[in-house]
Amino acid sequence: MSQITPAQQLFDLTDEVALVTGASSGLGRRFAEVLAAHGAKVVAAARRTDRLKDLAASSANIAPLALDVTDTAAIGPTLDEAERAFGPLTLLVNNAGIAGGGRIVDTPDAEWDRVMDTNVNSVWHLSRVFAQRLIARKAGGAIINIASLVAGRVGMSSASYAISKAAVLHMTKAQAMEWARFGIRVNAISPGFISSEMTDDYLASSAGQEMIKRVPQRRSGQPSDLDATLLLLASTKASGFMTGAEINVDGGHALA
Ligand code: NAI
Repeated sequence: MSQITPAQQLFDLTDEVALVTGASSGLGRRFAEVLAAHGAKVVAAARRTDRLKDLAASSANIAPLALDVTDTAAIGPTLDEAERAFGPLTLLVNNAGIAGGGRIVDTPDAEWDRVMDTNVNSVWHLSRVFAQRLIARKAGGAIINIASLVAGRVGMSSASYAISKAAVLHMTKAQAMEWARFGIRVNAISPGFISSEMTDDYLASSAGQEMIKRVPQRRSGQPSDLDATLLLLASTKASGFMTGAEINVDGGHALA
């Protein structure tokens, strides 16, 4: 029998240097905390730097970084700054996102652009520059894109949001395909409805409560429900043969 690696070692991220976008709240904040608790050095990036300072104060493994993911011109200098904190990045978590939009005929052009810039174009540009740097260094790495249950379904969110998340999922597969040969793994997590600033008002509403009745597990999720999936995809020791995958974490919602 070949040697069995204990789980503690499988999910030991001591050698990883991660950049998590949208880390000032919700899932992003939790992702930063979970990666740091498993030994990774984490650059927590967002626009609300006051919140990031609190987060960084909670762990020596976390450094704050001001980042607006829609500012594509700033990506190079921002990644330079990120790498000054803990050295070359090995893991990118594309988490920043907005819900936005409404019915298609009512959605102003500027709102469509805002959703696509934040949810799609940022993932394209950040991942591209991150991968260029890894390829230049001849180093492997990993990208985790946060897609959504609605990537495969319409009618449960605004159309622009669902379209943007479908694009993130397809981008995950295209990136995985192109970058596998460079040792860069790219996978997606598709959460169902998880409690956060984005969803709490909706989940508390009567429409939200009705929606929860249609989830097979009859509940919404907590950010902690994503911990183990994040660790799996972040650790090359644990998921070295996984790339281009989507993992649903949704209480069975995609089945309903
Ligand atoms: P959230 O609103 O708490 O977090 C989103 C974060 O992205 C915030 O910190 C926000 O400031 C940041 N952000 C937005 N625009 C940005 C920009 N231009 N530059 C930098 N940061 C920016 O919401 P949540 O739920 O934590 O969302 C995180 C990700 O998870 C999003 O991509 C969202 O679409 C996705 N998601 C969330 C689900 C949920 O039920 N909460 C379900 C499926 C996907």
